[in-house]
Amino acid sequence: MPKIQFRTSSGDLRTVDADEGESLMQAAVRNGVPGILGECGGELSCATCHVYIADPWAKHFPPASADEQDLLEMADDRRPDSRLGCQLKVTESVDGLVAEIAQS
Ligand code: FES
Repeated sequence: MPKIQFRTSSGDLRTVDADEGESLMQAAVRNGVPGILGECGGELSCATCHVYIADPWAKHFPPASADEQDLLEMADDRRPDSRLGCQLKVTESVDGLVAEIAQS
């Protein structure tokens, strides 16, 4: 079971056990990680799952789709390593990943 670490906007690190095939957003919401709301349920309409995925972890996920990029364009605090957690599927290869939660 891959472990995913979420760094909250206050700097705390929360480690959760994630199921393969679920999204980072689902793992965070299921474990009550603060700052990840997943309001639209992963339908690409809210951006309340905005996270930053730095190297070397970013390469474990497919590039953002056009729809994901469009929504990120409107997100506050966008950075080059911004992703939407609902679009990122957990696999064994991301065991130990650190996802920083966007502040807004
Ligand atoms: S949960 Fe709404 S865009 Fe990711």
